Amino acid sequence: MKRPLFCILSLLPLILGVSACVHDPFPPSDKGQGNIGAGGSGNNDTTGIVKDFCDPDTVYFANDILPLLSSSCGIAGCHDAAREKEGLSMTDYNSVINTGEVKKGNPAGSKLYRVLISSDPDEKMPPPGSGVSLSSGQIEMIYTWISQGAQNNSCNPNAGGCDTSKISLSADIQAILNTYCINCHSGSTPQGNVRLDSYTDLKIYVDNGRLVGSITWPAGYAPMPYGQPQLDSCYINKIKSWINNGAPNN
Ligand code: HEC
Repeated sequence: MKRPLFCILSLLPLILGVSACVHDPFPPSDKGQGNIGAGGSGNNDTTGIVKDFCDPDTVYFANDILPLLSSSCGIAGCHDAAREKEGLSMTDYNSVINTGEVKKGNPAGSKLYRVLISSDPDEKMPPPGSGVSLSSGQIEMIYTWISQGAQNNSCNPNAGGCDTSKISLSADIQAILNTYCINCHSGSTPQGNVRLDSYTDLKIYVDNGRLVGSITWPAGYAPMPYGQPQLDSCYINKIKSWINNGAPNN
């Protein structure tokens, strides 16, 4: 049974008195478009800043923030017919800035950040009891991104080439899953009833082929990450390489 989870960005507008949500999670025009991380953030802002290399001290909207916000978005609350009709998409740069009332350079003055750290249960996001929570590291990342000017920026994490040898679960695979998957696939009410937050759980979807199916998008599999562009091909190759090596718990 599907449980109503929350959608961080779809509830923000409720607070703000505007109803908005992602409607079609798989708009045909989004399928197969630019890969995240390769500069194709999938938003319409043509002034986006694309960097070749990822500076470890910079937080990037397309690489870090958008996947985080999208994966903090529960499905049920986002897709009921009433809200779909509102027609506002919360999955691009401009709507994050506008609906989240982001004040560039000023996290404390930005609604998007304030609701994350609020102790007021009426304002707090994710809502207490929703079963979804952002880690302090994720909240800090949003803080840093706003402090750094809340730019519409992206970088290519694989600009130095894609090394798929010696892939480790802890160093490589978990980093990908944490950014793109884990907020939907962890805890007691995971999306699709799929948990990916422990080795044992992950291994189930390695062994039944659904992990690879979900990221490579052949017919018959639900395309992941849900409602977002396909993963960068380097990430896909790293996951495949790790699986081909026996998916070690390394
Ligand atoms: C926004 C929430 C969300 C995110 C982010 C997300 N998923 Fe999912 N996932 C879902 C939902 C919802 C389903 C159930 C889809 C369905 O049954 O149609 C699902 C189903 C799955 C399944 C089962 C697919 C199948 O066809 O049996 C796998 C495996 C999976 N997800 C892996 C991933 C991976 C890997 C990522 C990250 C790359 C990811 N998911 C990101 C929401 C999400």
